[in-house]
Amino acid sequence: MRILEFEINPVKIRYYRKRLSLTHSICLTKMALENKQLELFSMLFINHLKGLIMSKFKKALLCSIAPMLVVGMIGVTTQAVASGERLYGRFTKDNELYTPRDYREWVFIGSNVTPNDMNDGAAAFPEFHNVYIDPGSYAHWKKTGEFRSGTIIVKELASVGTKEAPSGHGYFQGEYGGIAAMVKDAKRYPDKPGNWAYLGFSADSRHGAIQEESACSACHQQSAAQDQVFTQFYPVLRAAKP
Ligand code: HEC
Repeated sequence: MRILEFEINPVKIRYYRKRLSLTHSICLTKMALENKQLELFSMLFINHLKGLIMSKFKKALLCSIAPMLVVGMIGVTTQAVASGERLYGRFTKDNELYTPRDYREWVFIGSNVTPNDMNDGAAAFPEFHNVYIDPGSYAHWKKTGEFRSGTIIVKELASVGTKEAPSGHGYFQGEYGGIAAMVKDAKRYPDKPGNWAYLGFSADSRHGAIQEESACSACHQQSAAQDQVFTQFYPVLRAAKP
């Protein structure tokens, strides 16, 4: 039997192609649609259609119509995925982002550094900040110059290591020091300014903790160049903006 695995927030489900009951499959179709899992949605939808057609008409009809529907649906799916509609991140039921594992494979947009020795020995955010945006939202940014609902930006922290290298005096990255993140989502955070939630991550938790507005958002709202993101510090984003 062919088993397909799909990730639907927050659980991973296994889709057993032949064994799904109708109730199960309708429920999954709904979840797939809500989570914009277009590939899974179209597959389940086609299965329903096939069942329907089989029960009402003769095989001949299935042979002529079903392949056309399949081709149509696949067309929609690939178009949606190609234009970067895929959503990233998994969330708890309280809409807190599970610590992303693969963000280093996302789009790297820049690295700011606030070294301790220029900040009275204790920078607010130690020290290098390597910043990544999820690929779906980067594709959307390239098309529109806006951060879509669903955008996840991860800031990875690293200490300053040595200040001497064969290339000269400077600040060079030392050790990994954790992450912080911001997530824009109109559905999950309808009451937050700009629909942005800010999350802090501790080493002993599997997911981030949403922070008070005064701890994060207030400063971003006041000083960031576009929609609470410090685009003024990311030439990569500015260059990609249409
Ligand atoms: C006093 C102002 C201030 C506060 C408070 C603040 N930030 Fe930021 N944040 C910045 C600045 C400035 C940058 C960009 C430059 C840098 O990285 O130092 C930034 C960058 C970021 C980025 C990368 C995207 C971007 O907009 O540049 C994330 C993610 C982020 N902060 C999350 C947080 C979280 C989470 C908190 C709360 C725990 C927080 N910030 C609190 C000023 C602030």
